[in-house]
Amino acid sequence: MIVQELQFGSEQYRSARQLRESVLRRPLGLPLSEDDLRGEAGQLHFAMLADQELVACVTALPLSVTEARIRQTAVAPAYQRQGVASHMMRKVEAILAARGYTSLSLHARISAIGFYRKLGYAAVGKQFIEVTVPHQKMVKQLT
Ligand SMILES: CC(C)(COP(=O)(O)OP(=O)(O)OC[C@H]1O[C@@H](n2cnc3c(N)ncnc32)[C@H](O)[C@@H]1OP(=O)(O)O)[C@@H](O)C(=O)NCCC(=O)NCCS
Repeated sequence: MIVQELQFGSEQYRSARQLRESVLRRPLGLPLSEDDLRGEAGQLHFAMLADQELVACVTALPLSVTEARIRQTAVAPAYQRQGVASHMMRKVEAILAARGYTSLSLHARISAIGFYRKLGYAAVGKQFIEVTVPHQKMVKQLT
């Protein structure tokens, strides 16, 4: 399996959007809205490929030259709980660190807090509602 950066608007970017829609939004009965997609041309998009099939993806939103927000982590159901996302996240973190990012944050669904904690993210502040479900802000410093 390889981790690859996706060009905004490419065919693979569109595949990643479909994966995000089916894994992150359809279970909530929500579409990926214009709001979700606004500004994605200026964001960094990554995917994990297995034999050309896009099985996981994640996006990083630059907040400053050293800070980025991780968003929209999704793994195809058949590939979940097999180490795919943790492998992808470690690779993406290394790419971001090499580009000068030192501080990552994210809004974790409550159901995914354990996953991010294992990757070294720490919870900060109170839980809040986003896209109808409880979330927790988490942060990690890259070294
Ligand atoms: C959450 C998600 C991204 C995790 O991806 P994954 O590839 O299944 O995770 P991994 O297999 O790499 O798991 C790494 C570790 O985290 C744990 N883990 C995975 N999902 C977890 C979860 N939802 N809650 C708690 N721990 C979890 C695994 O048990 C594993 O621990 P281990 O190494 O001790 O066995 C994936 O399950 C997913 O796409 N879920 C639906 C969408 C979603 O909730 N995205 C996150 C939005 S914030």
